[in-house]
Amino acid sequence: FMKRRKKWSHYPPGPVSLPFIGTMLYIDFRNPHLSFSQLQKKFGNIFSLQNCWTNLVVLNGYKTVKEALVHRSEDFADRPYVPIYEHMGYGEKSEGIIIARYGHAWKELRKFTLSTFRNFGMGKKSLEDRVTEEAGFLCSAVSSEKGRPFDLRFLVNNAVCNVICTTVYGERFDYGDETFKKLIHLFEKSLNEEAGFLPQLLNVVPILLRIPGVPQKVFRGQKAFMDFIDVLINKHMETWNPAYIRDFSDAFLKEMEKGKVAEESGFNYNNLRLVTADLFIAGSETTSTTLRWALLYMLLYQEIQSKVQAEIDKVIGRERSPTMKDQVNMPYTSAVIHEVQRYGNVIPIGLPHMTYRDTELQGFFIPKGTTIIINLSSVLKDEAVWEKPNEFYPEHFLDANGQFVKPEAFLPFSAGRRACLGEQLARMELFIFFTTLLQKFTFVVPEDQPRPREDGHFALTSSPHPYLIQAVPR
Ligand code: HEM
Repeated sequence: FMKRRKKWSHYPPGPVSLPFIGTMLYIDFRNPHLSFSQLQKKFGNIFSLQNCWTNLVVLNGYKTVKEALVHRSEDFADRPYVPIYEHMGYGEKSEGIIIARYGHAWKELRKFTLSTFRNFGMGKKSLEDRVTEEAGFLCSAVSSEKGRPFDLRFLVNNAVCNVICTTVYGERFDYGDETFKKLIHLFEKSLNEEAGFLPQLLNVVPILLRIPGVPQKVFRGQKAFMDFIDVLINKHMETWNPAYIRDFSDAFLKEMEKGKVAEESGFNYNNLRLVTADLFIAGSETTSTTLRWALLYMLLYQEIQSKVQAEIDKVIGRERSPTMKDQVNMPYTSAVIHEVQRYGNVIPIGLPHMTYRDTELQGFFIPKGTTIIINLSSVLKDEAVWEKPNEFYPEHFLDANGQFVKPEAFLPFSAGRRACLGEQLARMELFIFFTTLLQKFTFVVPEDQPRPREDGHFALTSSPHPYLIQAVPR
């Protein structure tokens, strides 16, 4: 007892906790990274909070985050239980990947997903072929706007969702397709439902979710999104032929056929729904939001756009489609894309982790089962690392000779055991969509429009406020 008490005396400092609500009033849940930044100034890189009776520790700055996620990787590899997702089917027997507890099923599902994505190849087309084909559709759709001002958000969203849909469900949708529009709308709605104070409260006081009608009412978009995923999967199962793997869902179904051992590793019907939904959730909004930031910065920094276009013209020309092989010859474009990810800061507070065992970090004691917030924003804008943390400055990723360099603190995909599983696909999409668009068009602010805002809107991801764009063919 004395030993444990001594350990607790090294628990990270934090603001005074009030009865029942803990420290929740100190946090602006619509802009949590900004609240964290202020608390970091007061309490240092490791500080504690309390959401009602749930203990949280927030990790800030590159050095601290690296030490936790890389050097003590297993200690920080668990995820907290998220009651608000239960109504979608997440539970003890099937947890998908993103919110799965650290353990056997998560390991197996993650390994399987990574290797299936790596071997795509699935069916006839490689992942890169799929992305290149979709970039072509995207450019045609942008062309058909005929230089008029428009909101590019819907087209970019469609394109990115289509990459996931073809890879996972073997289907792509035309941009005008009403069902697809509905899906994207539902998805956006479901993300908004998770932001703010109420979902946080429901997570820490899950008994409130037992009040009849509450989950259905608060998370209407999530429920409808999941119903849509079910339709896609059911349609898929009807046309399934075990001899021919068309896409990720087929590969998963084949794994399920392997019987009891596979079942114990999480390959069951409910996980087919949840893992594919996870890939959709994790892989669409993040990538399309990053692309929207990229185009916004090109509007705001025309001289940078011109430099990227000059490099595209030199290395690829105006006709040939960009390929991933071009990337090594395009240091400036690579630097711009990386700076978009750093400055755009799309997942400012990462996804919550949880300590898997009692651990210690920089002299602080953090007990098993503590929720850990990885403040990625504080890493991507760490003043100790970046020359101009609060400016859009592609030179962060260029050396004195103009060659591409990647500082270690570039962690938009996080790090360690739970690091983003789709990094490779995301990087491919960012490079191919971005270069194809800038090869074909110059993007400008329409004459009658104000200069778009550079700050973000937070709803799990930080995304640009809506803006209109004009695409001038080159
Ligand atoms: C997890 C970033 C695209 C699948 C994550 C995490 C981050 C992230 C920060 C949390 C890591 C942690 O908990 O420490 C991004 C960004 C993307 C992107 C910035 C695009 C620019 C994708 C894509 C996919 C994907 C395209 C898949 C198709 C996942 C999955 C996880 C994850 C499954 C959960 C991993 C686990 O818990 O084991 N991502 N991601 N992501 N991402 Fe991504």
